[in-house]
Amino acid sequence: MNVKISFRDVVKTYPLKDDTFTALDHVSLDIADREFVTVVGPSGCGKSTLMSMAAGLVEPTSGEVLVDGSPVDGPGPDRGVIFQQYALFPWLTVRKNVEFGLKLMDLPAEERRRRAQRAIELVGLADFADALPKMLSGGMKQRCAIARAYAVDPQVLLMDEPFGALDALTRVQLQDQLLDTWSKDQRTVMFITHDVDEAVYLASRVIVMAARPGRLHKVVDVDLPYPRTEEMRLSPEFGRIRNEVWHAVYHQAPAVPAA
Ligand SMILES: Nc1ncnc2c1ncn2[C@@H]1O[C@H](COP(=O)(O)OP(=O)(O)OP(=O)(O)O)[C@@H](O)[C@H]1O
Ligand SMILES: [Mg+2]
Repeated sequence: MNVKISFRDVVKTYPLKDDTFTALDHVSLDIADREFVTVVGPSGCGKSTLMSMAAGLVEPTSGEVLVDGSPVDGPGPDRGVIFQQYALFPWLTVRKNVEFGLKLMDLPAEERRRRAQRAIELVGLADFADALPKMLSGGMKQRCAIARAYAVDPQVLLMDEPFGALDALTRVQLQDQLLDTWSKDQRTVMFITHDVDEAVYLASRVIVMAARPGRLHKVVDVDLPYPRTEEMRLSPEFGRIRNEVWHAVYHQAPAVPAA
């Protein structure tokens, strides 16, 4: 496979008072170019930490993270990040929020505006382009954060529970829309979620992590074709895969037996 993101024997520890806390314990994982991978696992198992390393926001204690074969050295416009807590600038309109991410790219103003407009239309916010975030619902704010990442047109999308705070209907709509843009633009996507259904619906591979210490637990292949459909969600095959992931997440044997 043509590897886009490679985690090689990655360890992340944080100092505790008299000890160290291991957030990630020897994680090795390759994500292929144009692959859609979802990551699930119990709270605190290191999902956000792993993604932040690919984003260049957190450095591994040991091991390395490569993008296109080169070690990650800070954030870059090739990787768009959507955080667990969406952060919009409250004093900027939707359009200005989306354009903000393009400022660092040294594009002419006209090109910035064109890209922002396209991304805003893509997430269905065209009628609200000049609204301030306080005038938007939670789902609309999140769509604005997604548009900001889309506008940069990154090769890699790193998404940390981007639909976590949304109602079920908006969530399903954004899932389909994300898959739609992904199949057109063929980006590589690493998508963290707590929702097992979402993980299976979106991905070609679901990465299941375990906690204490944070580590890879299981990789589940989703052998369903794209485009994914509503019928697929109800199919026995989908159910079987979902059960496998569910079991891997919620029936993990502890790494260290409880005292
Ligand atoms: N800066 C830090 N200092 C100390 N510990 C940290 C730091 N950042 C993360 N951790 C710890 O590392 C572990 C993994 O955190 P992380 O945020 O990656 O988990 P997660 O899997 O994303 O959890 P959640 O599902 O709740 O978002 C947690 O136990 C957390 O307390
Ligand atoms: Mg997290």
